[in-house]
Amino acid sequence: MLPDNFLWGGAVAAHQLEGAYREGGRGISTSDILTSGNAQTPRQITDGVQPGCYYPNHEGIDFYHRYPEDVALFEEMGFRCFRTSISWSRIFPQGDELEPNEEGLAFYDRLFDELRAHGMEPVVTLCHFELPYGLAMKYGGFRNRKLIDFYLRYCEAVFRRYKDKVKYWLLFNEINNQTDTTRPIYALTNSAILFEEGENREQVTWQAVHHELVAGALAVRLGHEINPAFQIGCMMAWVPIYPASCNPKDMLAATDRMHDRFLFTDVYVRGHYPDYAASMWAKKGVHIKTQPGDEKILAQGTVDFISLSYYMSAVVDHRESADTDAKGFAGSVTNPYLQYSDWGWAIDPDGLRYSLNQLYERYELPIFVVENGFGAYDQLMNTPGDYVVEDDYRIAYLRAHIQAVKQAVEVDRVNVMGYTVWGCIDVVSFGTGEFSKRYGFIYVDKDDQGNGTLQRAKKKSFYWYQKVIATNGEEL
Ligand code: BG6
Repeated sequence: MLPDNFLWGGAVAAHQLEGAYREGGRGISTSDILTSGNAQTPRQITDGVQPGCYYPNHEGIDFYHRYPEDVALFEEMGFRCFRTSISWSRIFPQGDELEPNEEGLAFYDRLFDELRAHGMEPVVTLCHFELPYGLAMKYGGFRNRKLIDFYLRYCEAVFRRYKDKVKYWLLFNEINNQTDTTRPIYALTNSAILFEEGENREQVTWQAVHHELVAGALAVRLGHEINPAFQIGCMMAWVPIYPASCNPKDMLAATDRMHDRFLFTDVYVRGHYPDYAASMWAKKGVHIKTQPGDEKILAQGTVDFISLSYYMSAVVDHRESADTDAKGFAGSVTNPYLQYSDWGWAIDPDGLRYSLNQLYERYELPIFVVENGFGAYDQLMNTPGDYVVEDDYRIAYLRAHIQAVKQAVEVDRVNVMGYTVWGCIDVVSFGTGEFSKRYGFIYVDKDDQGNGTLQRAKKKSFYWYQKVIATNGEEL
């Protein structure tokens, strides 16, 4: 059995659903300069907001104005928690102001009050793929150490303001995405970095990572000073990397690639860089500039729990000749044992159980699965009844993954605090900017060009998840 206080719920991020991108004094954020793309065409990063371009996040699903209706639907499903992020540029529009924007703070007061009034614990990501664009333009983003102070000023403002409304905080969403330096969207969304022509991207990225790890550790300390009951976690994109064969060289290659993930959790949980960091950086030609005191900061600001997103696994083959262009995940070869989604993401529930085991064995800290879900093209039914989409494929994916969480808890004794389904209501896809890559239990009438009434309607999975929560995961 899962524990009675298991945190069932859903997850979203401000920039993917709030819209109202210039309302309430909000400044432009790094996600506002991303156009829409699709499975073949990547999203473009524009030079500021350009007339004539379509930016899907500007409207999102207008959650900013419609959240009471949505929160009521979440309550109907029985959510015990709801994960969202605070849009940093609502609070500090340019990022470097001395005082926060009251209108922005007031919006989240209303939202968190609404959630609590409907029986949901807010789970809040401090920085989910959007930083004030001003910080990118004026300071070069997190490559600049000054960003540590701006991040802390922002954290202090929201920690103090919501001290009695929010208990669970996540530092930087999927901080490890940016280690893939081939896709500039990650540097922008993780760190407000726009790469310059010809610069060493690895150097810039790993320096930014250091600043973020220091900033995160300082935030943990500050948060605990403001309210010792705060639970503050890191947030990782967790993709387990399997060896392509039992050739020990593949095993070593997989171990090597997992270092890109473990490095972060090692610092967050153990409070210091692992020894392999030095050889990783040397291989990449990276030299991290640190300041006296950084070691102590990292040691004193370790997290209370680990949170992660889990969508897929990947496979590494040590041979340079291997076809690594297979599917979904950079540098991965096809896994013949798995099925893939329409976006090439490997469907692997056992990989979730495996990951939970790996992380728990290594750290013995509670783990929160704050993202898991199935992006799919939904077809509206010709004659809708109680629901408008018959999304059995989504139910099948979630059922298998929840089953994996249960096995991890019940059989392997992993301490899992909760599970929140990504995009519990349809939102703009982060990776492609499409709207037709849908994850929700709740359908939103909107298309890839931004047309639609934004009306909400239940899918079949809505009723399924309602039953899952009501039985605490016993009826899947
Ligand atoms: C995670 C992010 O990477 O996966 C979310 O934290 C994102 O912001 C989600 O939306 C699913 O990815 P995508 O590209 O299908 O939207």
